[in-house]
Amino acid sequence: MTVNEQVNRTTVCNGERFRLYLDESTIRDRVAELGRQISADYEGLRPVLVGVLNGAFIFLADLMREISGDCEVDFIKLSSYGESKISNGVVTELKAIDANLQGKHVLIIEDIVDTGLSMKYLCDRIQENGPASVKAVTLLHKAAATKVDVPLDYVGFEIDNLFVIGYGLDYSQLGRNLKDIYILDEDQ
Ligand code: IMP
Repeated sequence: MTVNEQVNRTTVCNGERFRLYLDESTIRDRVAELGRQISADYEGLRPVLVGVLNGAFIFLADLMREISGDCEVDFIKLSSYGESKISNGVVTELKAIDANLQGKHVLIIEDIVDTGLSMKYLCDRIQENGPASVKAVTLLHKAAATKVDVPLDYVGFEIDNLFVIGYGLDYSQLGRNLKDIYILDEDQ
């Protein structure tokens, strides 16, 4: 595929057009880099990766395979945006963490930090379990949308403040299976 064909690639999801934003190989390379960084920072520490369902499942699966040392995995599920593209500002827990995080080094794995409310909720919630440390990992960060002050320790990509889909991220449950990440096309 030529560069021009790549740039012009679009997809339609729930009747709205999205254009290619981050392609599969760009994502793969960055996830591998994050994995190398985490492997070095957590050598011998056996971190627990806590994936945030549903959006982070693909990122987590790829990231975990780029981590060379021992590590564990668990999941938490929070309320989603439902049919909307805008956060309603309320975070509720739909599935709790099963693992005992007491004394563990925890890495929270998010697909995207938008307002920051979910990540703030997760950091506070996990701190209640007495972990040795808690750090935040997100594939994408919409800095212009972030309202809550929450430290992000590993960020894949800083992105524009527009809705994105693909690589696990959905728009009303569709689009998660796209291999690339697409952004809402404002010119549609
Ligand atoms: P926050 O609490 O506003 O930071 O939002 C975090 C959650 O909202 C993410 O885990 C996603 O599930 C969802 N979200 C935020 N922005 C997007 C987007 O652009 N596309 C798809 N989901 C999003």
